[in-house]
Amino acid sequence: MGDSMSITTCVFDAYGTLFDVAAAARTAAALPKNSEIAENWTKLANDWRLKQLQYSWLRAITDAHTDFWQVTQDGLDWAMEANGVSGSRLRAELLELYWNLDAFPEVPKMLVELKTAGLQTAILSNGSIAMLEAAVSSAGIGEHLDAILSVDTVGIFKPDTRVYNLVSEHFHCAVDEVLFVSSNGWDAAAAAGYGFKTAWVNRSGEPQDRLPWAPQYELKNLTKIPILAKAR
Ligand code: LAC
Repeated sequence: MGDSMSITTCVFDAYGTLFDVAAAARTAAALPKNSEIAENWTKLANDWRLKQLQYSWLRAITDAHTDFWQVTQDGLDWAMEANGVSGSRLRAELLELYWNLDAFPEVPKMLVELKTAGLQTAILSNGSIAMLEAAVSSAGIGEHLDAILSVDTVGIFKPDTRVYNLVSEHFHCAVDEVLFVSSNGWDAAAAAGYGFKTAWVNRSGEPQDRLPWAPQYELKNLTKIPILAKAR
């Protein structure tokens, strides 16, 4: 396993980090039959994502867990109403697309580089096992991942400590051997507070979250992850 400073295990958040969550609304909006969201799909996608996350945090702190598929639907219902969009056909289409999100283009090569360097790789996500397996399969990246770890096992969402514990429980590794990678500022911050080495993938140039912890690294995309993982 090497000394405690070296990274043995790279763990990725799923939605927004490996998989492009905006792809569902973007893909639907490009179809002529969905002209009602042609103009405002980015706001719809942002509202959907924000509500999905808010509901996950609220359910965690109120001990009202449900699976990520439920909060994904609840978030979409709020976002559609907020944006004056209706229709069960469009709703079903957006939800269906969520099961087959694109991976960001650099993902397959990055994972291959990590495996070639002898690192362990995994997803650690709020997503349900079924959602994650579908997304991994449609992106064709399953063979490069050693584990898909879901909050389903512990029945609470990130950033609860029990979720981050799943990594060392599965890999029998020390917390500081793990490089945790997330596009969510709050997730990267909380994981740094937990004791992982962390990289925040800040694709859209957002300000850093004002929380008691900060990620060690900030990146524009995932291409440099293998360099970071091998350097330490
Ligand atoms: C996940 C969400 C938080 O995959 O992006 O866990």
